[in-house]
Amino acid sequence: MTSSSIPALRAAAAATVSVVAVGAVVLTAHTASAATTLGASAAQSGRYFGTAVAAFKLSDATYTSILDREFTMVTPENEMKSDATEPQQGQFSYGNADRIVNHALSAGMRIRGHNLAWYQQEPGWMQSMEGAPLRSALLNHITQVAGHYRGKIYAWDVVNEAFADGGSGGRRDSNLQRTGNDWIEVAFRTARAADPGAKLCYNDYNIEDWSAAKTQGVYRMVQDFKSRGVPIDCVGFQAHFGAGGPPGNFQTTLSNFAALGVDVQLTELDIAQASPSAYAATTRACLNVPRCTGITTWGIRDSDSWRSGENPLLFDGNGTKKAAYTSVLDALNGAPPVSTTPTTPTTTPTTTTSAPPPGACSATVSMNAWNGGFVATVRVTAGSADLNSWTVTLNLPPGASVTNAWNVQHSGDGWSNVAYNGHLATGQYTEFGFQATGSGTPTVVSCGGS
Ligand code: G3I
Repeated sequence: MTSSSIPALRAAAAATVSVVAVGAVVLTAHTASAATTLGASAAQSGRYFGTAVAAFKLSDATYTSILDREFTMVTPENEMKSDATEPQQGQFSYGNADRIVNHALSAGMRIRGHNLAWYQQEPGWMQSMEGAPLRSALLNHITQVAGHYRGKIYAWDVVNEAFADGGSGGRRDSNLQRTGNDWIEVAFRTARAADPGAKLCYNDYNIEDWSAAKTQGVYRMVQDFKSRGVPIDCVGFQAHFGAGGPPGNFQTTLSNFAALGVDVQLTELDIAQASPSAYAATTRACLNVPRCTGITTWGIRDSDSWRSGENPLLFDGNGTKKAAYTSVLDALNGAPPVSTTPTTPTTTPTTTTSAPPPGACSATVSMNAWNGGFVATVRVTAGSADLNSWTVTLNLPPGASVTNAWNVQHSGDGWSNVAYNGHLATGQYTEFGFQATGSGTPTVVSCGGS
């Protein structure tokens, strides 16, 4: 246990006493088409399922086999923090973080960057700085690190844990906060300039209970940022819960934040003793909120957890699935199959095919573009008959080159379903995506299915 983990442990303890009892798990019978991994099950409703990953565990075959089989999003647990990436001022070190990024991208997973600014795990040189020099050093850090990973990150936790525990609802004291109250918005603007393709998130713990002063403080900040055009796209709820699981109003919290115009995500989920009903309730809270785009557990096996004494994860120390795993899988498979994942405010649908003939499909492309690159999200909608497979033919803009893709297999111009998203009932849709260098908008040539 480290001193740095104490605030979140306190958070977990507080959650334990403040939770409302969760209901019994409603188990969903697996249908023939129910997906059998966390990532595939989440993808059926357009969401991801991720985990924190430690670089030094990538040589553990059990660890990587579970990682590659189950998860579609990766968060480096410690390797992107400022003490790891800038150990000496102006000297950047990306070896361990790059190992995780390369592993994830080569396995078709996306990456949540964690984090660009946090009062903990600052390198020694940063800890001893104050005022304007610290502000300038922090902004340089953000520019360099987000720039290094430009085009590879789905979402950055730009600022982590900047609000105080307790009843004040105000900012936490830190050397970063003492550079001026505008440090958070300046960090977000700097991150946007460094990697315009990444979603930019504020991430914190103990903001799951809607009635908590800390939750209200973060809500007011996000509301203010949205009203003034500060570039914020998402809020991460760490979700380090006690044995009782989430507060009864967690879904309300997620909905209320989403209504501000941001995505919401569960970014560091773990639950003391991993009660299946608590995990199911947590999962359903996300599934019931269209802008809740994904869930990440903070580690794979109990033995990987920062709270290993509480056995809070979905796999035991041997890598065997626990009862909580099944409850999460069943909850994911019980979600409506039609994705209602919204696009970010910067994303605008740009291409639409004409109405499909019976039995076929239509495809639309939504773009999030920046200077030199873009993320394209392609929505495939079944026509007047059910589909068991589909292929979309796309024309990429001249010079564009795909760097990574998700929820799809592709070869040349053809983009086809993977095992878990081929079946679409009449009128239902699914989404796949890819990131590319270059500029311009891909156009849909055809959408065919059987
Ligand atoms: O790598 C060194 C190793 O070389 C050394 O021998 C050992 C001795 O203590 O320390 C190792 O580093 C530790 C590192 O975890 C890797 O295991 C650090 O001391 C330790 O402080 C660090 O703890 C991390 C903690 O953040 C730091 O605050 C946890 O792994 C990590 O799970 C935890 O994650 C945080 C999120 O970033 C933010 N939200 C809360 C969450 C849990 O505290």
